[in-house]
Amino acid sequence: MRILVAGGAGFIGSHFVKRLLEAGDEAVVLDKLTYSGNRANLPQDVEFVHGDIAVPDDVARAAHGCEAIVNFAAETHVDRSVLSAEEFGHTNFRGTQVLLEHVRQAEIRLVQVSTDEVYGDLEAGGSSRETDPLNPSSPYAAAKAAGELLVPAYVRTYGVHASITRGSNTYGPNQYPEKFIPLFVTNMLDGEPLPLYGDGRQVRDWLHADDHCAGIELILREGGPGEIYNVGGDNEQTNIDVAEKLFALTGADRSLLRRVDDRPGHDRRYSLDTSKLRALGWAPRVPFEEGLRATVDWYRDNRDWWEPIKSGEYRAYYEQQYGARLSTSSPA
Ligand code: NAD
Ligand code: DAU
Repeated sequence: MRILVAGGAGFIGSHFVKRLLEAGDEAVVLDKLTYSGNRANLPQDVEFVHGDIAVPDDVARAAHGCEAIVNFAAETHVDRSVLSAEEFGHTNFRGTQVLLEHVRQAEIRLVQVSTDEVYGDLEAGGSSRETDPLNPSSPYAAAKAAGELLVPAYVRTYGVHASITRGSNTYGPNQYPEKFIPLFVTNMLDGEPLPLYGDGRQVRDWLHADDHCAGIELILREGGPGEIYNVGGDNEQTNIDVAEKLFALTGADRSLLRRVDDRPGHDRRYSLDTSKLRALGWAPRVPFEEGLRATVDWYRDNRDWWEPIKSGEYRAYYEQQYGARLSTSSPA
């Protein structure tokens, strides 16, 4: 199959492109190369179109001859959406609509990569099912929810063949260091302070990028039109427990851990019921301890990937996000 991977120069999208190529499929990448997009995440010879999913001509040019589009392209960081939500509406909502218009006219398939954050947080026990109502908390999650709500509308109104995936917190190599695990790992390797939000007892369900991509690939090949599939790691961890595991793996000094002011609107817990996707034969395969060890090793061995990022655009963002918070932080 020839497949357009939108946002394929980002973290999960680039893992997905490599997976498709290994399976013998043809992949074309459409990516705007925002701050988190990185050509170095991809094999040099991959077909690449530099463009915006919210621009119909860019999509038409990139999707020429493709039988399907898998959409990873998004503004993805909750903390950035708290600082400024403008681009989140553009890419996560408007961009998804442009892709839907294209697949409608070209009569090809779409997989919309969404997130467990659309459900909002779950305080106590229980797990979100695909039929549960959407209750997003952050501008990021609301823009993702708005984008994915267009999908069933296009399926019902125009009969397009489109499916939705809702993945949980993903980790692995090539993740931009603004996110929790690569931020903590690279700061540990550099002896920099580690900003833990609030009490650190928030719960995330960690999923390795390879497992997330395996789920999306299965949905691409076998998912039904209008169907939604949770893709979760069945691996709920508090942030403080993940930090402790990272201390053990890096040998960093525990005094680096700082309790900082919490993220506004911070979701307490996510949890996914994955029985629908498991019924298609998928299950997460990478044990957390193993995946985390390999991820730490990757960041230790690939400073040439993340050091230029941390000394570039990221520096100003980091100062804005953490400068004042770290100066009033306390030991955790
Ligand atoms: P990322 O930030 O690493 O990558 C996003 C990519 O999209 C970048 O390459 C960027 O340049 C590109 N992009 C942004 N705006 C674009 C536009 N208008 N046109 C074309 N390209 C554009 O993100 P990620 O963590 O790899 O996430 C990929 C997808 O998976 C997103 O849709 C995200 O919502 C979803 N998701 C992520 C996670 C996670 O934990 N990282 C979990 C569940 C779902
Ligand atoms: O759940 C899926 C989502 O996971 C994806 O849709 C998002 O694109 C992705 O960014 C991620 O969102 P989170 O907000 O859960 O991930 P983040 O890595 O930003 O934070 C994970 C947890 O760690 C969260 O409870 C906040 C906390 N945290 C994060 C950062 C960056 C800290 O305590 N300190 C930090 O500096």
